[in-house]
Formats: sequence, C-alpha cells, structure tokens
Amino acid sequence: METLTKLIEFSSEISILEISYLLASILFILGLKKLSHPATARSGNLWAAAGMGAAILFTILFHKKDGAPISNVIYIVIALAIGSFIGWYSSKKVKMTAMPQMVSIFNGMGGACAALISLMEFPKMQNMMASEGVAHMLGGEGIAILLGLMIGGVSFAGSMIAFGKLDGRIGDFKHPVLRIINLTFLVGLFVALALILFMKPVEGNNLPIYLFALAALIYGVTFVMPIGGADMPVVISLLNSFTGVAAAMGGFLYGNQAMLTGGILVGSSGTILTILMCKAMNRSLLNVIIGAFGVAGAAGTEDGDKTVKEISLSDAAVLLSYSQKIFIVPGYGLAVAQAQHLCHELDNLLASKGVEVKYAIHPVAGRMPGHMNVLLAEADVPYEKLVEMEDANNEMSNTDVVIVIGANDVVNPAAEDDPSSPIYGMPIIKALDAKNVIVMKRSMAAGYAAIPNNLFYHQKNRMLFGDAKATLQKLVAEIKSL
Ligand code: TAP
Repeated sequence: METLTKLIEFSSEISILEISYLLASILFILGLKKLSHPATARSGNLWAAAGMGAAILFTILFHKKDGAPISNVIYIVIALAIGSFIGWYSSKKVKMTAMPQMVSIFNGMGGACAALISLMEFPKMQNMMASEGVAHMLGGEGIAILLGLMIGGVSFAGSMIAFGKLDGRIGDFKHPVLRIINLTFLVGLFVALALILFMKPVEGNNLPIYLFALAALIYGVTFVMPIGGADMPVVISLLNSFTGVAAAMGGFLYGNQAMLTGGILVGSSGTILTILMCKAMNRSLLNVIIGAFGVAGAAGTEDGDKTVKEISLSDAAVLLSYSQKIFIVPGYGLAVAQAQHLCHELDNLLASKGVEVKYAIHPVAGRMPGHMNVLLAEADVPYEKLVEMEDANNEMSNTDVVIVIGANDVVNPAAEDDPSSPIYGMPIIKALDAKNVIVMKRSMAAGYAAIPNNLFYHQKNRMLFGDAKATLQKLVAEIKSL
C-alpha cells in the first residue's frame, strides 16, 4: 500500500513537471510569435521569460533524482539571484548602440552553460559505464553530451571574440592560413568526437574530454577571428543558433522538454535570422564567414572631381515645412547620435503643419535586426508611421522629400547600378525616386560597407552636415521660427 502511494505521488509529480514544461514551451512559442511585431514585442519577451521562470521554478519544486527532491536549492537560489541581478543591471545600463555586445555576452554564457553541463555529465557517464564494463561510449547520451560540449564551446569562445570585436578591443585577423587552420580544426573535432564515442570507457580518465573541450574553444576563436568586425551581428545570430542547438542537446540528455523546445526554438530562429540578414545584404553566409568585407570604421570616400551641394538650415526648414509628403530614412548614425527623440519631435512638428511624415525602414539599417524599430519605439514613434522598405519604395515617386538621417549603405544606388560594387544586388531604399533628398551626416565618410555613395553627389540631393542630434535640434528650432 505504501509503495502504491509512493508510486502515485511520484507519477503525479512527474506529470506536474511535464505539464509545466509543456506550458513553458507554449509560452516560448507564443512569446516568439509576439516578438515578430514591435507593438507586441515587449509582452512577447515577458511571456517567454515567464515560461522560463515557470520551467525553473517547477524543476526546483518537482524534479526528483532517485526519488529524492533537489537537495542544493539554496545554492541554486543564490546563483539565480546573482545571475538575475547581473542580467537586470546590465540591461538597464546598456546603451542602445552597445546592444549587440550585450547579446553576444549573454549568448556566450548560454554556450558556456551547455558546455559545462557536458563537461560535468560525461565523466559521470564514463565512470558508470566503465564500472559496468560497457564496451564503448556510443549511444544517444554520449552523442548529445559531446555535441553539446563542442557546439557550446565554439559558441562561448566565438561569442567572446565577437564581443571583443564589437567593443573595439579585438581587431580582425585575416590570413589565408586561418582558413586551413579552421578547416583542420573542424574536421579534427568531428574525428575526435567519433574516437571518444568508440573508445572503451576508462574510469577516471578525463583527459580526452578536456582536450576535446579545449579544441572546441580554440576553434571558436579561430572561426570568428577572420570575420570583419562589422559583420559581427550576422555572426552573433549564427552563434546564437549554435547555442540553441547546444542547449537542446542538454534537454535531450536530461529528458527535459522545456530545455529541448527552448533550444530548438533558439536554434531555428537564429538560423532563420542569419539567413534573412545575409539575404537583406545580398551576401552568402560563406562570404560573411570568410570575411570578404565589412571592416568596421573603414576609410572615407574619394571626392574626385564630383561636387557636393549643401543645404542651409533655413532652406531645409522651408523645404520641409512646405512639403506634402516626407519620408525619413533612419540609419546607424541616428542610433550613434541618440537623436531618435529629436527625430520624433521633427516629425510631430511637421505633422502639425499638415505634412505627412513616415519612416522608411530598411531591414538591415543600423547594426542589429530591428535596430531602427527599437530605436524609434524608444522615442514613442507610432508603429503605423514605420513603413517597410518595399512599401516605402512604392510610395517614393509621390514623395516630396526624403530625409536620410545617419544612413548610408541602405540608400546607396551602387547596389542597383554598379555591378562591381560589393553591395550590388542588395535591396535599398530608393531615395532618388523622390523629388528631393536631404542627407544628414557628419562628413563624406563611408558607412559599414566602406564604399563611396554616389547619392551624395546626385543633383537631387543636398547635404546637411553635422551630428544628427545637433542638426535636428537646430532644424526643429528653425522650423518653429518660420
Ligand atoms: P551605415 O551604412 O553604416 O552608415 C551610417 C552613417 O552614419 C555613416 O556613414 C556615418 O557618416 C553616419 N553617422 C555616424 N555617426 C553619426 C552621427 N553622430 N550623426 C550623423 N551621422 C552619423 O548605416 P546604415 O545605412 O544604417 O546601414 C547599415 C549597414 O550595416 C549596412 O551596410 C548593413 O548591411 C550593415 N549591417 C547591418 C546589420 C543589421 S542586422 N542591421 C547587421 C550587419 C551589418 P559620418 O561618419 O559622415 O557621420
């Protein structure tokens, strides 16, 4: 009778745990769905976080090992408190322009967790199998552990290098020999994985697994080193998908459905995002990985004998105030200048004068996916004013003025008319289809792709030089004084 009671108790607790994992997985999926629109992104984040919170809480409460509940709850709570504080504090403090760095650190931590799980579980499994006299380590668990270690290790080390590059602490290192080293490491890692799996378990001999972990870390470094610093957002998204796969391996190992679903969702969405980013830049992933272009902070453009027309603040104020329809094209420079609030002030001011003002959003404007959407949302720009590139391009011919604020590559006509350009084929915002163009930036310097932009020399265009924030401030004052 006592045994029966225990069995019922055990199975009901197991099912509570499984139901909680199902609930967590549903919350992850719904959260992810909500993340696809700026209006629902905040709540989507909270839904997914609630799913994760529930999975952690229910695991602490209901997980049992050999019939006994978790014994080290106090350590788990302390670790959770420290981790949560660091996460909360750093996201409060981080500047919008430093978001990619933060994402890469957080992603690296995920990879490290997955790798540490494997490093902890493999010796245990090996000792157990050795004492049982098992002939080899081959089996679902062995493969999951080694893949988790390999992918998690690469993701951790790669993300740390990505962080260093984005933060300007580490430069690019491009050398043809790195390609050979990388290929050797990649093949070597898979060969080592196979060897470890087919090895007879030897109790206490952990050297092969530690060497394997070290090789994964070194490959993570050499994999990211040759990639152009400015290509890091694509790489982070790729590493993010690696972390997802590594976490899914942990879920598989522990039979934890929430971890498995979460890992698969991160892995697949990271892969889709990587592909979308490459597509929006008209580049292949291989082209990004071998570091074909995109060294951050590259040289400026050549003026040659072309002339650039400037516009004065008062002329710009008059032109804008007497327009009927205006598109603002925000870019990386708007984020750098933190001029989003002034930009919104300008659009409100013009709207109060009866001008129709909208924002044309290029999918890879800025330095991270959705960068402009987040930036403008921060300034409370209504979502209805944000128009996607294709739709904006359809409206360009009946637009009086396009104001390009801190954008460069995303409006570069070379993408359409210069087959020799590295960005040829990349879809752009067709600013030149409008009647007038005003470009606000500090100088004639190039953008991320480090290539000249003929839009600046076009007869329809006039430059309004200066820091975006300072220029917008003066422009708003000028329009008010009209
Ligand atoms: P960019 O082409 O990088 O141009 C930004 C421009 O902003 C620069 O030319 C710079 O010119 C200007 N600027 C910088 N600070 C400024 C300030 N304080 N005030 C005014 N202007 C300032 O930016 P974009 O047009 O947004 O294009 C994004 C690029 O990043 C694309 O090539 C894209 O492929 C790449 N990329 C994007 C992503 C994602 S997911 N968004 C990921 C990887 C790569 P001055 O120095 O003369 O001011």
